[in-house]
Amino acid sequence: MEERNLCGNKGNMKEFFVLLQRREIGGDIQLKKEREFTMRIYKAETYEEMSKKAANMIFAQMILKPDCVLGLATGSSPVGIYDRLVEWYQTGDLDFSQVTTVNLDEYRGLAPDNDQSYRYFMNSHLFDRVNIDKSRTFVPDGLAENAEEECKRYDALIQSMGGVDLQLLGIGHNGHIGFNEPGDVFEKGTHCVALQKSTIEANKRFFASAEEVPEYAYTMGIGTIMQAKKILLIVSGKEKASIVKEAFLGPVTPAVPASILQMHRDVTLVGDKDALSEIEG
Ligand code: GLP
Repeated sequence: MEERNLCGNKGNMKEFFVLLQRREIGGDIQLKKEREFTMRIYKAETYEEMSKKAANMIFAQMILKPDCVLGLATGSSPVGIYDRLVEWYQTGDLDFSQVTTVNLDEYRGLAPDNDQSYRYFMNSHLFDRVNIDKSRTFVPDGLAENAEEECKRYDALIQSMGGVDLQLLGIGHNGHIGFNEPGDVFEKGTHCVALQKSTIEANKRFFASAEEVPEYAYTMGIGTIMQAKKILLIVSGKEKASIVKEAFLGPVTPAVPASILQMHRDVTLVGDKDALSEIEG
């Protein structure tokens, strides 16, 4: 039988995850106390304030490194951030000409011009509105014939960029990041996943019906996300409050994929007061 560890496929993160696994087996994990790094948490009053704070961090990254690699996300949460970035581009404060972007995920089977595809989302919310070179914006190819090949291609692409400088993340109601759904292992690289019913339910609001939500999606793996130099997680709304508590105050477990972020050395969580209401104090 194939050797298994907490990381779904083999690689140089193996030891890291094995160590993590041992800590889990040991019972209560005291990650917060054992580790040297502390997550920064910014509480905003509103979605608008959350968006502005998070956009400011992306602004800072782009000023410090104009040719940075930004890892980008879709969903309702980042829309306000992209609006802010566009505003700052329009006022001449931001220049995207040297930036490279790589997106977290894409539905399998959707064409780039399908208005529910994540490529379409990124074009309409950001790329078509700023001076980015579109040939340096990457999203998995929803129409790739061979899923395995597409995953390999996407991983190789990220490696060739030298990794991600700043990764923007949202969080799903079940704790997913990208489309890394809850499971038994943390998947390291890009993979094609069967979406959980709860994810299809949550995302059907963007489609005519739940039946139209694709059943499969490509997602960057947890290993790749963890290799980003900085992580910026945004969260908004009361309905995310309990998963935020589970992810950041609970055990690190692949059953709550976002919990792995407790192990990253540079994570900033920006949330509105509703989303952070259960981790205050
Ligand atoms: C989707 C995306 C995730 C996103 C999450 C939360 O399924 N694949 O990348 O973070 O859902 O989305 P929202 O911000 O709309 O709540």
